[in-house]
Amino acid sequence: MNLGIIGCGAIGSDVARAADSMPDIDAIYLCDTNKTASEKLCKQLKKAHIEPVERFLAHVDVVFEAASQQAVHQYGMKTLEAGKDLIIMSIGSLFDDAFRAHLIEAARKHHRRIYLPSGAVCGIDGVVAANVEKLDSVTLVTTKSPVSLGTSVDERTVVFKGTAREAVTRFPRNINVAACLSLAGVGFDDTKVEIVADPVETRINHKILAHGRFGRLRAEVENMPHPDNPQSSYMASLSAIATLRRVVNPLQIA
Ligand SMILES: NC(=O)c1ccc[n+]([C@@H]2O[C@H](COP(=O)([O-])OP(=O)(O)OC[C@H]3O[C@@H](n4cnc5c(N)ncnc54)[C@H](O)[C@@H]3O)[C@@H](O)[C@H]2O)c1
Repeated sequence: MNLGIIGCGAIGSDVARAADSMPDIDAIYLCDTNKTASEKLCKQLKKAHIEPVERFLAHVDVVFEAASQQAVHQYGMKTLEAGKDLIIMSIGSLFDDAFRAHLIEAARKHHRRIYLPSGAVCGIDGVVAANVEKLDSVTLVTTKSPVSLGTSVDERTVVFKGTAREAVTRFPRNINVAACLSLAGVGFDDTKVEIVADPVETRINHKILAHGRFGRLRAEVENMPHPDNPQSSYMASLSAIATLRRVVNPLQIA
């Protein structure tokens, strides 16, 4: 299997290094608007080539995006129309309902899959399963230090309470987690989001609370920042690698 990677930053580099040691992956094609990033990564890998997306699409089976929302708009449709599977990290791009519907339609037409790693949040598997029946409520509570939310408070303060769709315009850095949870469960307009500034918080804390016929779910993760990009959580890289393993591996843990 051949893999195309768009974005050779923190997450793309971790995925590329993991793919380089996967026996089922024969070749890795790298693309980044920053030439230095793709060249630096290429030197660390045994199976890598640098090619523009338009050129590598003919040679790959699956494309892994870890670049930007703009990159998903730029290459998402092209990837699916070329008959390739697509793994998207910049899930915030799917808030655009028309664009998301377009991608899904193209995937269906070309018998391809779009994979969304759970990224920086944990408990998505439970929300997906619970959503088979009725989910009464789904809430994401994100707690960060005041400084990383651009505020200065000296006690735990709820700085936002609203729907996922409202949250992303006020707190765009939370966009991928809110989008992933919304798509897994009750959608952008019914998923509730709370953003909390807490002076004692040293990590990025995401908590999912869900109620439904299944019972109650509470899943919490305390994320360490990615060593190469403090804006990303290291868990996002691990979940991306786990998704790639699922794509490649004949044995699936659902
Ligand atoms: N799903 C999640 O939970 C989750 C978690 C963390 C990050 N992300 C998203 O994943 C993406 C990558 O995160 P990262 O931490 O690796 O970022 P990063 O900034 O470390 O790396 C991004 C790389 O993509 C390149 N790039 C940007 N636009 C491009 C384009 N149009 N074409 C080609 N290359 C392009 C940049 O030059 C950079 O090298 C971001 O969009 C981020 O928001 C998602």
